[in-house]
Amino acid sequence: MSVMYIRGGAPLEGELTIHGAKNSVLPLLAACLLAGGPVTLHNCPDLTDVEAALAILRHLGCGTKREGRDLTVDPTGASGCSVSEEQMRAMRSSIIFLGALLARAGEAHLTYPGGCELGPRPIDLHLAAIRALGCEVSEDCGIHCHGRPRGGEVQLSIPSVGATENAMLCAVGGTGVTTIANAAREPEIYDLQCFLNALGANVRGAGGSTITVEGGRALHGGEFTVMGDRIVAATMLSAAAAAGGRVRLRGVDWRHLSPVLSVLHQAGCRVTSRLEYVELLRDREKPLRAVPTVRTAPYPGFPTDAQAPVMAALAASEGCTLFVETMFDSRYRHVAELKRMGADITTEGRVALIRGVERLHGAKVEAPDLRGGGALAAAALGAEGVTVLSGLRHIDRGYENLETMLCSLGGDAVRREN
Ligand code: UD1
Repeated sequence: MSVMYIRGGAPLEGELTIHGAKNSVLPLLAACLLAGGPVTLHNCPDLTDVEAALAILRHLGCGTKREGRDLTVDPTGASGCSVSEEQMRAMRSSIIFLGALLARAGEAHLTYPGGCELGPRPIDLHLAAIRALGCEVSEDCGIHCHGRPRGGEVQLSIPSVGATENAMLCAVGGTGVTTIANAAREPEIYDLQCFLNALGANVRGAGGSTITVEGGRALHGGEFTVMGDRIVAATMLSAAAAAGGRVRLRGVDWRHLSPVLSVLHQAGCRVTSRLEYVELLRDREKPLRAVPTVRTAPYPGFPTDAQAPVMAALAASEGCTLFVETMFDSRYRHVAELKRMGADITTEGRVALIRGVERLHGAKVEAPDLRGGGALAAAALGAEGVTVLSGLRHIDRGYENLETMLCSLGGDAVRREN
């Protein structure tokens, strides 16, 4: 088993280009199934979730080839329409293949995405969207969908990211015009729209609450550059806030980070946002201070994925901060680990009260999930002594070589076989 040794207590200093966004590249990979020729994705991060998506594409008959950060998918030979239970379990967002398979083949056989990392993650909205587009769905020993999608009205009761993406993919392959109301507004949805349009689709409105898709256009191959990962950026900024120092991040749009930057600014960090970079400066002589309640919300609200890293930074601060997690039931699993490092945090249901302590200390901790793992690494850099972080399989799903990223900012982090 690999573990990461992180020595904290020294400031971070340096510049880092943030890699491509996991939450963008996964739907883009599923969308490759709709293309009539090879598609090359630039800035494609090397993550285990990306590998899981590629395994599904190969199982469906696609060719895949990686050269550094360029990934080419050739869907011309694809003929499959089912994803195995093992592949569905490997990655929760494998459900995104549902809409793409229906669009390509008019048929999809999947199982429920497995596990319970953040609490129950139902797929009822995904299935309702697919039904609204005229496909038949049966849930008998798995999910079985049939029918060529046709235009329709998809009304989402919650602006679910995955359901919005599934509806978009399904509608692109259908006939007629589809309207998706109460769509998720995340930047990754806009990235998906840009990608589909680059291949010849006609999708409008992403970034707003109503998306319109004119279906039935044959998509061609092409190339596209994946947007930078705003959550990886938020994690690095949280690490710098915890450790102190000055870091400059490139490759990410600061506007996607606004609510996170605002919290870190209120905590006493100096934030400079430019078109080409975002920079955070924290004076180590001055402790971070508590901030008004941090409430997670769909975009453009404070991202649930940044809750754990920002909490890790505020664990050592002056005063008390409340966090309210509104998106997922089990999103405080990092709290028990932060407490091993000396944090004083109480949770009740969806609320967490952080009583800032002067300083955390190194400890043996385990990443409970992807962003919880990023949070523990951020906390470790601000802590006194060495932290031994296990559970790296969670971290590798969404951070490409986290230890290398931390080292390039002057952090002391190394991965070893234990
Ligand atoms: C995506 C992100 C994840 C992020 C989340 C919220 C990807 C690959 N993952 O996950 O990193 O934390 O958005 O920003 O992009 N819901 C239902 N029924 C459904 C679908 C969702 O009730 O059919 C609920 C969920 O339980 C949750 C809320 O809707 O409470 C939002 O979830 P959703 O936006 O769908 O998250 P994901 O797409 O799974």
